[in-house]
Amino acid sequence: MEPERVPVEAEHHIVTARQRARTMAAELGFGVVDQTQIAAAVSELTRNIVLYAEAGEVLLSVVEQSPGRVRALQIVVRDRGPGIQDTDLAMRDGWSSSEGLGLGLPGTQRLMDFFELNSKAGVGTTITVRKTIP
Ligand SMILES: Nc1ncnc2c1ncn2[C@@H]1O[C@H](COP(=O)(O)OP(=O)(O)OP(=O)(O)O)[C@@H](O)[C@H]1O
Ligand SMILES: [Mg+2]
Repeated sequence: MEPERVPVEAEHHIVTARQRARTMAAELGFGVVDQTQIAAAVSELTRNIVLYAEAGEVLLSVVEQSPGRVRALQIVVRDRGPGIQDTDLAMRDGWSSSEGLGLGLPGTQRLMDFFELNSKAGVGTTITVRKTIP
């Protein structure tokens, strides 16, 4: 399956990305609780793009995870913004470089089954999250 791409260039794209993720989750058979968690994760990650990187994109796809080839909804959220200097610090509950609560990244990790943060100062940020399809 070709990934579905949602550009994130303005605040209203947060809503678009969140809705697309929720719809895809529903189509894949996720329950309402999972749909809400997936939508919240996409919302937090795309809000970070708008706040810290200005522009980026969301890629939604279904992937096969290696052990037992279990299928998952995979969401890649990436930008070519300033990147994150200290990723361990950024993942800490309550740490924010702005006026935020500092819960977006660690909260997203808790909502999803898989979370991977790749960021390089001056290059950009790519976050990959997955939730196993029931
Ligand atoms: N895409 C990004 N590009 C650059 N820096 C980022 C990006 N996403 C997060 N960060 C950095 O990581 C920090 C932690 O992000 P996180 O989403 O956890 O908290 P927050 O955005 O500060 O607050 P909250 O999400 O709770 O409103 C941010 O304050 C910011 O410095
Ligand atoms: Mg945030």
